[in-house]
Amino acid sequence: MKIDYSLITRRTFLNTLFGGWLVALCSGSAYALLKFAFPTLGKEPDFVVLNTKDFMNIPPNSVKPFAWGGKVGLFFKNANGTSTALKGVCTHMECNITYKPEDKKFYCACHKGWFDENGKNIEGPPPKPLEFFDFKIEGEKLIVAKKGIKVELPKA
Ligand code: FES
Repeated sequence: MKIDYSLITRRTFLNTLFGGWLVALCSGSAYALLKFAFPTLGKEPDFVVLNTKDFMNIPPNSVKPFAWGGKVGLFFKNANGTSTALKGVCTHMECNITYKPEDKKFYCACHKGWFDENGKNIEGPPPKPLEFFDFKIEGEKLIVAKKGIKVELPKA
């Protein structure tokens, strides 16, 4: 069967093809420029250095947030006064979590995910426990690091 005429012209087809190619080229270049200008964009640090006095005096059964790269970290003191540090991001789709002191649980509002105070996923869609960090105190500095990362700060 022979088609007498087409719904799109050759010019429209070529213009669409060229336009798509141009958009792909520009977005690739823009992405490369952004990665050059901001090399740490989207990367998580191995450790952060915080001020000890800002975090050690938080009341029991509470959290205090800190910047963990582009994400949030939480310094957590449980009801017994034991301190831990963890990534404040849900293991399902990386929404920020909040601590519910009345329930002693972490909650993710995105899809109603719950974690107990030890970070174990107990309800909802989160597939695994929260990520905890190591921390140590060196004088005025509170060093929070990924598990297994050894941090040696230069001596002043
Ligand atoms: S992102 Fe937290 S439950 Fe889905």
